[in-house]
Amino acid sequence: MAQNKGFYITTPIYYVNDIPHIGHAYTTLAADILARYMRLKGSEVFFLTGTDEHGQKVERAATQKGKTPKEHADIMVENFKALWKELNISNDSFIRTTDEEHKRIVQEILQRLYEKGEIVKRKYSGMYCTPCERFWTEKDLVEGKCPDCGRDVEFIEEENYFFLMSKYQQALIEHIEKNPSYILPESRKNEVLGFLKTKPLGDLCISRPRQRLEWGILLPFDENYTTYVWFDALVNYYSALEYLAPKNIQWWPPDHHLIGKDILTTHAVYWSTMLMALELPLPRNIFAHGWWTVNGKKMSKSLGNVVNPSEIIKKYGVDAFRYFLFREVSFGLDGDFSEEALVRRINNDLANDLGNLVNRFLAMNEKYMEGIIKVEPSHQNSSPSDKEFVSSFISLIEEINNENLWDEFKFNIILEKIWAAISLVNNYIAKTEPWKVVKENPDRIPIIMFKIWDSIRIITAFIYPFMPETANKIWLALGMRDYIIDHRMLQCGIDIKEAKTEKIEQLFPRIEISKEEAAKEKEQLKEDKVEELISIEDFMKIKLKVGKVIQAERVKGSTKLIKLIVDIGEERQIVAGIGEQYSPEELTGRSIVVLSNLKPAKLMGVESQGMLLAATGDDGKISILTIDREVNPGAGIK
Ligand code: ME8
Repeated sequence: MAQNKGFYITTPIYYVNDIPHIGHAYTTLAADILARYMRLKGSEVFFLTGTDEHGQKVERAATQKGKTPKEHADIMVENFKALWKELNISNDSFIRTTDEEHKRIVQEILQRLYEKGEIVKRKYSGMYCTPCERFWTEKDLVEGKCPDCGRDVEFIEEENYFFLMSKYQQALIEHIEKNPSYILPESRKNEVLGFLKTKPLGDLCISRPRQRLEWGILLPFDENYTTYVWFDALVNYYSALEYLAPKNIQWWPPDHHLIGKDILTTHAVYWSTMLMALELPLPRNIFAHGWWTVNGKKMSKSLGNVVNPSEIIKKYGVDAFRYFLFREVSFGLDGDFSEEALVRRINNDLANDLGNLVNRFLAMNEKYMEGIIKVEPSHQNSSPSDKEFVSSFISLIEEINNENLWDEFKFNIILEKIWAAISLVNNYIAKTEPWKVVKENPDRIPIIMFKIWDSIRIITAFIYPFMPETANKIWLALGMRDYIIDHRMLQCGIDIKEAKTEKIEQLFPRIEISKEEAAKEKEQLKEDKVEELISIEDFMKIKLKVGKVIQAERVKGSTKLIKLIVDIGEERQIVAGIGEQYSPEELTGRSIVVLSNLKPAKLMGVESQGMLLAATGDDGKISILTIDREVNPGAGIK
């Protein structure tokens, strides 16, 4: 039987030594968003997450609690499952490395590699970091300590089994170079290539003497040893397909292994070479996202600042949390979590922009049409401004539905564009003034109401992967019969003639900010008022233009500066200090606002012929000004 290739996406399998926090939620949510989008597009999807239950970390955590490792894992795994439920994670399966089937497959793979001569026994001595379960060479150490966690290492000499990873070094370099999206973002790919091209790759110790570490899978060819936890864990991506995935679809190779940047080497190097040795096709992509800190600090138990997603959900709702994480920072980069930033997003983006649009439309439609929407009424009565609105809206939707943006996890850009579509509808309402039309030209009301209804319907479809609960609420309020579980929602045409809208409660009530916050905002307003005023003549001296970024790259030696080649009717080179918030890849192709008549200046020796306009938030983060619909490069701004 010919098999079609399904879409296969994975998250790391998380250690059960601790309870899940915002970082674990982040990766799993990102996979959920893409899985939901792909299902909407009609793909067969297998979305896998799970837990990593062997090894020293888990054994030690269990001992501290007076439990066996398995008893401990059985309790801890429930925390992950419960959180995924609270976060509306739509994983198709959940793997535990203590599953009997997984253990059997790991042993089969070890046996196969051993028989092929890919695994050999060697005497070995080295510096061992127990918490990280890794051997290091003297050269790797930083001031005598583990280069990963900074803790003490101990000298160990023993016989062990090694996977002959070193012989795949060149093949791996070639694979990464030939497949530009194998490792993303670009900066992570360069990091891996840099390391592979400058340092000889060692062989990988894949066993631990059983008397030192009992809690693991026994080597099938030598029961005096247990399997190194990373070898066992990585195999989950393969073993799950054997016993957890539907059989009638071809899932291998995976489309995305989604991980945090902390475990890039184990995936990009260990896993890739393991697959080469097994002669299995490599995944299409490994995406390593950035790191969350909290109020500017690294999350840690000792600082007591670990963000528990359950608490945030209870306070602000699951969808606000889901939205915030992906709107606030570009997916590949690091982000900082603060409740103030979350509240700002809720009040501005969710309550003001989206919530108001939906509630306002539902109220109008109730009042003017008794809640009835006539789907596709005669378009002959559409005015030029209706048509202009529809065409701008459709071109924005086409941009949002660009699969490359989704496939490269450009979630913040997608959300920006969805919000541009929301503004477009809000502006259409403001311009059309239905409250006047109903008195002066009531025949146009069904047309206007239909156009707003249809736009909100399409926006809802794209909001769904990010905020499934909210999207379902809006979908039902629009009179669409079913929950968004089928694939129709991304089709433009719909097969109903009439819908009945229902008013609903405020989707996102505004959150009152504290007195101190409010006072801060008032102060700011006062400051703005006393600022010196300028005349229109002064303003006319400033030439602002729309620019399209043709090319972007980091200025060597600077984390902040990015050199842009921008089309503003002519090509200009502009250097902007936006490198901490934006990556060059996400800037290319975007429309920006440029001050074009600024005297050229040099920044770190690179000439800048103009200035990119951007706002700085209270948190010091930069947000660039964009144009909310396509305008030709070079267009003037007044
Ligand atoms: O490494 N910011 O499991 P783990 C963003 N079992 N993401 C974060 C984060 C943060 N502050 N903290 C954690 C393991 N993460 C292995 C994986 S896979 C075959 C084996 C996320 O429980 C991020 O995805 O330590 C990171 O890669 C993962 O949790 C590490 O989870």
